[in-house]
Amino acid sequence: MSPRHEGVRGATITGTGMYVPDRVLTNADFESMVETSDEWIRERTGILERRISAPDQASSDLALIAAKRALEMARLTEADIDHLIVATTTPDRVLPSCACTVQAKLGAKRAAAYDVFAACTGFIYGLGIARGVIGTGDADTVLLIGVEQLSRIVDYTDRNTCVLFGDGAGAVVLRPCAPEEGVLSVSIHSDGVLGDLLEVPAGGSLLPASHQTVEDRGHFIKMRGKELFKVAVRGMEESLRRALDLAGMEPQDLDLVIPHQANQRIIEAMRERLGVPRERLVVNIERFGNTSSASIPISLDEEVRAGRVKPGTRIGFVAFGGGATWGATVSRWTLAVPRGAPAAVAVGAAPEVAR
Ligand code: ACO
Repeated sequence: MSPRHEGVRGATITGTGMYVPDRVLTNADFESMVETSDEWIRERTGILERRISAPDQASSDLALIAAKRALEMARLTEADIDHLIVATTTPDRVLPSCACTVQAKLGAKRAAAYDVFAACTGFIYGLGIARGVIGTGDADTVLLIGVEQLSRIVDYTDRNTCVLFGDGAGAVVLRPCAPEEGVLSVSIHSDGVLGDLLEVPAGGSLLPASHQTVEDRGHFIKMRGKELFKVAVRGMEESLRRALDLAGMEPQDLDLVIPHQANQRIIEAMRERLGVPRERLVVNIERFGNTSSASIPISLDEEVRAGRVKPGTRIGFVAFGGGATWGATVSRWTLAVPRGAPAAVAVGAAPEVAR
């Protein structure tokens, strides 16, 4: 949360990867499921379609593919990973953690593996942790994944929520760098008093799973969208301003702003308040919907592989999510993506990733 201290190492992203499932659910598909329209969804959210996992795909499967792609770009292997962090609200199971499951599938035997549970802000929280453990020398290589299968906890009879969410995974590899490079500042916040703005009421210790909780549809997301909208805009603006302050920058110093893809109108309202030019804002919500903790690393991977991120590029990440949680980071990019890096693969079954 504070500016970097004398003698502390920097941490920088040296590889990115993403994966989204094949199946596309369009706005038109929802017209036969709930009382809605393509026009309403487009205008109120900016979403045109989203990806939905196959029944036999777990969150760890999506995460694994994104992770292999990030490791490949970083020219590292699973044996190099010291910390394996998964930001998710939809782990495969309540126990063990999603990170431990990914660790087993990847064969990352040396890694300490753990989940971060901060909803849509999880990737930013994870970056803060990664920067900390690399900065102190506790880790040299961190694999950070944001993965969600929100389709598993969305109520497809509730038009207020079902049109918003999609599935996907994004991953980054972080390594030490000079203190003035990489992740320059982290500003993370939460307010548990706002916990009921977005919740899954049942399935935890408060309301363990029972016939009644299933009958009551208690295992699905419940959301107070209007209220969330307002606090999200404010929280995203404030945390990005704070991260910029810590990095000694102004909003106009950022070459790219990659916001959590919650709603086109939330993103636009935040952009206006900050005075960031529209062309510097990364938006892909029309194709993927809200993928929660995966949305920032998915967007980043697309930008990196499209050649829009170069050494020296200054990037702001910013998010708001359930909890409530919110936060932002400012980074100076160091990675030169090697010539011939494969283009982002947005569709298709996972290819074998060469190492
Ligand atoms: N199709 C048609 N009508 C709908 C739909 C739908 N899919 N969903 C809601 N409506 C209706 C509502 O029932 C309401 O009808 P009513 O006036 O008869 O009660 C009407 O549309 C207006 O509802 P509002 O809540 O005023 O619509 P709003 O403009 O606020 O848009 C939305 C709703 C899209 C959910 C918006 O509030 C939002 O995006 N909020 C942020 C929520 C979010 O992003 N959550 C994700 C997690 S947190 C995060 O990532 C930031």
